[in-house]
Amino acid sequence: MRIFLLFCLLALGNTKPYRPVNIMDFMKNYDIMMADSDEDEDSDEEDEDEDEDDYDDEDCPAHCRCSPRVLQCSDQGLKSVPEKIPEDTVIIDLQNNDITEIKENDFKGLSRLHGLFLINNKISKIHPKAFRNMDHLRLLYLSYNQLTEVPANLPPNIIELRFHENQINRIQKDAFKGLRKLHVLELGANPLVNSGLELGAFNAMSTLYIGMAEAKLTAVPKDLPASITELNLDYNKISKVEVEDFIRYKNLQRLGLGFNQIKFVENGSLANLPNVSEIHLDHNRLKKVPPGLGSLRYLRVIYLHGNKIKDVGFNDFCPTSLSVKKNPYTAISLFANPVKSWNIQPATFRCVTSRRAVQLGNFRK
Ligand SMILES: *[C@@H]1O[C@H](CO)[C@@H](O)[C@H](O)[C@H]1NC(C)=O
Ligand SMILES: *[C@@H]1O[C@H](CO)[C@@H](O)[C@H](O)[C@H]1NC(C)=O
Repeated sequence: MRIFLLFCLLALGNTKPYRPVNIMDFMKNYDIMMADSDEDEDSDEEDEDEDEDDYDDEDCPAHCRCSPRVLQCSDQGLKSVPEKIPEDTVIIDLQNNDITEIKENDFKGLSRLHGLFLINNKISKIHPKAFRNMDHLRLLYLSYNQLTEVPANLPPNIIELRFHENQINRIQKDAFKGLRKLHVLELGANPLVNSGLELGAFNAMSTLYIGMAEAKLTAVPKDLPASITELNLDYNKISKVEVEDFIRYKNLQRLGLGFNQIKFVENGSLANLPNVSEIHLDHNRLKKVPPGLGSLRYLRVIYLHGNKIKDVGFNDFCPTSLSVKKNPYTAISLFANPVKSWNIQPATFRCVTSRRAVQLGNFRK
């Protein structure tokens, strides 16, 4: 169930331009989660009927629609968080308003909150105590705002944190400290540079997905959590991949490095990713197939289209020896490179599921 939820959430990543989130989908997930775990919230039961039957509309803040435990105030031109939010609220939808600031007491007393959606506002300031006592908060969406740094004192049990398209250029040390359950951290489309990632910025985290696409990185960040299984660095300015780059990331399964300026992948660098199954290196400046692909046992998808690859060698993709085990590739893309397909020996692709898995021709640019 948790994995399922995670994948649903990942699918929402990198939405651009702003696409609204359907809050009711989260409510469904929330109900499933609550049904799964009745460790806490026993007291809910009694309130429940009352909520459904005679929910008091007068308690609903202006410009909002209230349904039991859900407050929807999207697209209302609100300049601040509405007052008097009912205390039993679990989901708050404030998407697409003009809120500029989150004040100390805006969410005071909302200790049952599970999801807070503040996407597409003008938030540049969040009070350091604004999220206190939100021990049940799992989802915090702050994408498409004007934050310049990660807010302080984030709620401890958060699973998913989204800051896509803000103005964050620095991640301070211990910015995510104590967030042991954080699985998804989306930081894409922020003006992040490598020197802005302070040493220890990602201390003590066990995050699975980190998104830093569309930033200003010139190298692979080396200090991300060692737990990550997916890293998205597409659309940066990375010019090379070196042996030290991936030493920490032994669990990585999906790696996005498309649309960078990579000319060179040092031999041995990919060998540090023993479990990688998918690598995107399309739209770079590679002149050769990166060395070491044949030894990556779990690698099934490699995108190399849109580079400057002139030659493809017999052993560039598959193990040299039959005794080396390798899962067959399901996708190799080489189109939009200067290599001539008739110069590639067919057996170069001997460890591929079928001929259709190799995209060589110029039929797709
Ligand atoms: C790689 O994956 C296998 C099976 O999926 C797992 O048993 C192993 O622990 C993983 N290794 C690393 C270094 O993550
Ligand atoms: C890369 O390194 C491996 C292991 O040291 C070596 O066997 C291989 O020949 C090297 N490949 C290239 C292209 O230099």
